[in-house]
Amino acid sequence: MSEADGAVEQSETSGLSRRGLLTGAAIAGAAIAGTVAAVTGRTGRAPAAGADRPVPAGGEQQAGIQRPAIPQQHCLLAVLDLDLDALQGSLSALGTRIAEVTAQPRGIPELTPDGPADLTVTVGLGARALVATAAPELATLVELPDFAGDAELPPERRGGELLLSVNASDPTVLEPVLSSLLAALSGPRLRWTEFGYRGPAVDGVSRNPFGYFDGIIRPQTEQEFRDDVWIADGPLAGGTVCVVRRFHLGVDEFRALAPADRDAVIGRAQSTGAPLSGGSRDDQIDLDAKRADGSLLIPLHAHARAAHPSFTGSPLMLRRSYSYRASDDDRGHLFISYQNDVATFTRTQLRLDEVDDLMRYSSPTATAAFAILPGVLPDRPLGATLF
Ligand code: HEM
Repeated sequence: MSEADGAVEQSETSGLSRRGLLTGAAIAGAAIAGTVAAVTGRTGRAPAAGADRPVPAGGEQQAGIQRPAIPQQHCLLAVLDLDLDALQGSLSALGTRIAEVTAQPRGIPELTPDGPADLTVTVGLGARALVATAAPELATLVELPDFAGDAELPPERRGGELLLSVNASDPTVLEPVLSSLLAALSGPRLRWTEFGYRGPAVDGVSRNPFGYFDGIIRPQTEQEFRDDVWIADGPLAGGTVCVVRRFHLGVDEFRALAPADRDAVIGRAQSTGAPLSGGSRDDQIDLDAKRADGSLLIPLHAHARAAHPSFTGSPLMLRRSYSYRASDDDRGHLFISYQNDVATFTRTQLRLDEVDDLMRYSSPTATAAFAILPGVLPDRPLGATLF
């Protein structure tokens, strides 16, 4: 992300409109210069992207979901099992390690030599881990049925007891931080990990491996987060449900399509992200809009139609997905969504399996759901509400 993008992002999250920022370009330029001067003054060189935007780890909710508002450009996901007899102690130690590694301004210097900047760690528990707590009934909150292709997945790619999502603008801190977090756990056994990346955000949204803006329609206001993302009460109040699906994408096959056919699969224009029903990127899709000949502007099997909440009857889900490239033969999409009811995801995926043209270019290679724990407070260690 360029420094200018960083300034836009920072201003957006602090409530300034982009229009206001652009008309005040000179002011923005001065602000950028000021920020750079402040940071280079500390380190003696140009800051890493995000270095001027620390994200607090503690609070009612964990970091990495609503904050930062625009996901960092890199992530390292780890899905693992662990010694469930020692779960409470492991979570508490993990929370402490997260606080240490994200502590401003230095974190743990051998892991984050230039400071943690916008590093976040997000922790979730899978069904078997929830059963090992004092509230085993919570396991139903993360139950997923088998979707198309799931039954063929190897067991280690289905479910998992713990999710660690380590996200930062600086990709070099992810691996040392993950290793340090694993060392805080009792008996960790990795199922799979994946490194993910995103394009730079343009007005808050970046492109996915197919080159389309992804994550346009999402909860944005505090009210939408309260309604659709955060769990309101019980031991998981302040938490949410995270679905992680690793999709291998037929990137070459998709790219071989004519541009208009690609847009028809998504239901949006690649260049601008605007819905094929018209308007600009952030306008609502008009699913009923038709051409003069009566044909639908958003094709019947377009992804944007299939996933639309009006068909699934589901509230909004927060998508913070990443691209991955594991090898030349394995490129794809780490789909990551947060919602307070797993049914929001389930109803959507079932409908995609039925009618979505995009699923012809996607095959799941891992699937899991996790209860994201409430945030850490001074008198509330990570996971404490579950024991
Ligand atoms: C397989 C890889 C996938 C890719 C490449 C992909 C890509 C996209 C793109 C480009 C958009 C349009 C822009 C936007 O609103 O963000 C979109 C919208 C959306 N996608 Fe996906 N998606 C994928 C999988 C999924 C899955 C598995 C789900 C959930 C089960 C999902 C749910 C949604 C939703 C809810 C929308 C917004 C629809 C609306 O309200 O307009 N997507 N996706």
